[in-house]
Amino acid sequence: MRLAVLMAAIFLIPAAYTQTLRDLAAARNIHIGTAVTPSHLNEPGFAKTLAREFNQVEPENSLKFGPIHPALDKYDFAPGDALVTFAQEHQMVVRGHTLVWHNQLPNWLKTGEHTPAELKQILQDHIAKVVGHYAGKVYAWDVVNEAFETNGALRKYLWSSAPGIGLEGTGFIEQALRWAHAADPKAKLFYNDYSAEGMNAKSEAIYRMARDFKERGVPLDGIGMQMHFGIKASGDATAGKIEANFKRLTELGLEVQITELDVKLPVPPTEDMLKAQAARYSEIVGVCVRNPHCTAIQTWGFTDRYSWIPHQNPGFGAALPFDADYQPKPAYGAIREALQGK
Ligand code: XIL
Repeated sequence: MRLAVLMAAIFLIPAAYTQTLRDLAAARNIHIGTAVTPSHLNEPGFAKTLAREFNQVEPENSLKFGPIHPALDKYDFAPGDALVTFAQEHQMVVRGHTLVWHNQLPNWLKTGEHTPAELKQILQDHIAKVVGHYAGKVYAWDVVNEAFETNGALRKYLWSSAPGIGLEGTGFIEQALRWAHAADPKAKLFYNDYSAEGMNAKSEAIYRMARDFKERGVPLDGIGMQMHFGIKASGDATAGKIEANFKRLTELGLEVQITELDVKLPVPPTEDMLKAQAARYSEIVGVCVRNPHCTAIQTWGFTDRYSWIPHQNPGFGAALPFDADYQPKPAYGAIREALQGK
């Protein structure tokens, strides 16, 4: 008996682990992705783990307005291009993030005191240039990020109303989608947001916008769900409510993608917390696996060595499936099993 257990340990378990996350996801036609800072690709442990486990990458910051468009007539495509090259070398697809957002805007834009007509021209040029540059290389874009408030109202900010590009309501979102579609008709275009994964006022507002866009033929292909979570689900983001939201959106003919998943823990985490984290990863991946129109699961980084959480939430961290030495955590095993439908 003991011998049999030993044999199983030697032969079966390593065999099972030869199937990586990307193998298991590909078998289900799902992309498994992660956000990456391109300069980390020079680190062998980072690059090796990334290429082994994932078949999708997204630049964590490099394609945002400030980094990629640092002056009116200057674009910096080099970091994004480096990630595209890495992805092509390792048979991975690339998601683009993001064209219209309120954060990480360059100073020249924030202090420019542009008129709505000028802002409209700036945004149209930006989208044409960036989406055009990556046409055929980036398969999906978060065209607009975080445009709604928690109560479902539209955020008031540069592109929408301060002074905005001169369009009412969700008009600026529709316009950005149309410009992105013109620049790359084959790219899948997403609206992306946080705290709108389950059922609440914000997800309701996004649903209504999506339904209106689908009815009028606005080029919207899907909704991105950020999913920056803790181990305890808030009442409106239980697995059941996320499943219900995915269902109503995909019934409109849209895809959904999980775009920025991480599950933060107080640091240092206890064994029990790591187990609870694994359970949360498992239920989220399970929701995606059960909906045929959920087409990607992406974590916001993959190693605790590099994660935005400790900067964003001091005292928290350990949010990702690999530890700081690229060793798999319980969350990794949970994602694997959920991808296998367990
Ligand atoms: C974060 C990055 O991870 C940080 O490095 C950066 O300092 C700030 O932005 N929602 C988003 C992402 O859509 O773009 C944010 O990324 C995290 C929250």
